[in-house]
Amino acid sequence: MEEDEVGLYNAPDMRSERIAGARLEEDANLLNLRPASLGEYINQQEIKEKLRIYIAAAKQRGESLDHVLLHGPPGLGKTTLAQIIAAEMGVDIRISSGPAIEKAGDLAAILTNLQPHDVFFIDEIHRLRRNVEEILYPAMEDYKIDIILGEGPNAQSLRIDLPPFTLVGATTRAGLISAPMRDRFEVKFRVGFYSVDDLKTVVIRAGRILGIEVTGGGAEELAKRARGTPRIANRLLRRTRDYAEVEGEGTIDAEIARRSLDMLRIDEHGLDELDRAVLATLVDKFAGGPVGLDTLAAALSEERDTITDIVEPFLLQEGLIQRTPQGRIATERGLAYLGKESPDRLF
Ligand code: ADE
Repeated sequence: MEEDEVGLYNAPDMRSERIAGARLEEDANLLNLRPASLGEYINQQEIKEKLRIYIAAAKQRGESLDHVLLHGPPGLGKTTLAQIIAAEMGVDIRISSGPAIEKAGDLAAILTNLQPHDVFFIDEIHRLRRNVEEILYPAMEDYKIDIILGEGPNAQSLRIDLPPFTLVGATTRAGLISAPMRDRFEVKFRVGFYSVDDLKTVVIRAGRILGIEVTGGGAEELAKRARGTPRIANRLLRRTRDYAEVEGEGTIDAEIARRSLDMLRIDEHGLDELDRAVLATLVDKFAGGPVGLDTLAAALSEERDTITDIVEPFLLQEGLIQRTPQGRIATERGLAYLGKESPDRLF
């Protein structure tokens, strides 16, 4: 028996639970901030409208919702959307992630324990192992999995029927998902950055839930510096609540927000120290580029993924850098941000 198949029979069905647990701890404070329905979810109008229709249609037909792929930078609410899909469908959700599902048996254990129409959420789906991915294809297409029992001439293939379910996959890198995987998602959404106005609404809503007094000016100041990302807006809100309680009267107004954010070294454009370091390295060490990702990561002693998933999307969105076939370059705006007209080496 291959290691993968052994896993099916004694795999504690915990891969998904464990991840859920980790996430719960990590986001303990965020949990009750997560909107529970499409109506409560701020931004992503187009996604919400389509989901509303697809969910209503699936429910009318008594079917599971088609598989959904969500892609976009971290912190924009992909997991929340998956939870909302489950809530709106009136079903349970199982949460796991690509790297957590190590063996085909782990996946089989999760899939065979789903109830009809349940949502199975796989975060970082681009990191699924190939052997696991291959089990997922027939599961997605025909709600069936084929398990090989035994080895060599005695090996037998066992087909297991699964309940109809909805796979919601999330990824920060749509480009890294294999073509066969991507093709099996009927519905694909790109989750985008939030406007300052939408983030302001997120902050005011979270403030209300947490019992924090936030003025319009205070919410705007936090929203402006949250890099288009509600997870960051909520983190800045909690950090600024601490600041307001200790250094102020407890209310978050524009002045308290500004002082707290200055202390966190987040500037008025929302750039933090790492963002500034990436931009400054590009300009000062590499004459504004073009420079390859590996070179840039090495110069900063940072992980490649941190740069591609967290720093770059925001710098690109702000027009401070550009990605060219030769590598990253700083734009005029990027130079102006650093107070320069041209990279140093050109003088
Ligand atoms: N909190 C974090 N993201 C949110 C969103 N999109 N809508 C409402 N509250 C949120």
